Amino acid sequence: MFHILVADPISDEGLDVLLASENVVTKDTELTPDELENRIAQFDALLVRSQTKVTRSVIEKAENLKIIGRAGVGVDNIDLEAATEHGIIVVNAPNGNTNSAAEHTMAMIMALSRKIPQAHLALKNQKWERSKYVGVEVKNKTLGVVGLGRIGTEVAYRAKGQRMNVIAYDPFLTEEKAEKMGIQYGTFADVLKEADYITVHTPLMKETRHMISTDAFRQMKDGVYIVNCARGGIIDEDALYDALVSGKVAGAAIDVLEEEPFQDHKLLNLPEVIATPHLGASTVEAQENVAIDVSQDVLNHLTGDLVKNP
Ligand code: NAD
Ligand code: MLT
Repeated sequence: MFHILVADPISDEGLDVLLASENVVTKDTELTPDELENRIAQFDALLVRSQTKVTRSVIEKAENLKIIGRAGVGVDNIDLEAATEHGIIVVNAPNGNTNSAAEHTMAMIMALSRKIPQAHLALKNQKWERSKYVGVEVKNKTLGVVGLGRIGTEVAYRAKGQRMNVIAYDPFLTEEKAEKMGIQYGTFADVLKEADYITVHTPLMKETRHMISTDAFRQMKDGVYIVNCARGGIIDEDALYDALVSGKVAGAAIDVLEEEPFQDHKLLNLPEVIATPHLGASTVEAQENVAIDVSQDVLNHLTGDLVKNP
């Protein structure tokens, strides 16, 4: 019998998978970092989403921990190096929220283009400002996709459905694959130069932190639109702010921020910025999928079976 701590909210369906096992499941989604450090030693498995930061100091106190499960894709809230050093396996649920994140990205692109959040807010404030909210069409515009993995690929197909041209950059993309998908293959510089909209879908890593920088903005078209439904930190927020204020960037749609939750973020004070509070994977379907997938993988590991998503 193992002790499993669920430290972030996961769907009931995922919890049911754990509860149906012989193990002791503790759900405590309100732990402070100190409380997590103080209690972690008693657990064999830890399940998180993105709120809980599984730092080196948590891992150093986790003397019985065998596995950390991430109900979602990004594992940037987990110190992987420390986990590996301590022989703790980290598993995620990479497939369950792809569709939701891609749909959210397309919703953001459309809302940004037609200024729907701004017009909605004005109307809710009893202001009929029809001429103020003239938008642009996406048809025949070029969408630059940086990171053509699971979500980037789904976004590319959906954008083609909106009759956009798509150019993508990914170190693993080949010209053959791009041709097969009916999109243009490009370098990072090509994407920056040719796109009317740029959407990022890479993981957050050393190599991708601030890859959309002041220098990258300089290479973009005037009036470009920027979308980030991947991870805060891929875009340098100060550089984005300056590019918006100068008019280089016409608008930005942001689902993720470098610091979440934030305190009075300057980007959110700009009218050209539309935003959601990290909702890319917040659908009933995605949360059910990732919670079930990760719970099954945690149980697999605890019972000595192979895990699917190490
Ligand atoms: P994925 O691993 O399938 O795709 C990531 C792609 O980025 C890969 O193809 C990889 O080759 C590419 N890549 C890596 N380094 C790159 C670089 N320097 N330049 C260009 N491409 C690079 O991941 P995914 O499932 O598509 O997720 C993408 C991102 O979306 C992740 O950051 C994930 O955490 C995030 N995400 C956010 C939400 C949300 O709620 N907003 C939901 C799901 C996923
Ligand atoms: C992810 O990486 O899967 C996303 O951030 C979704 C989430 O956990 O909310």
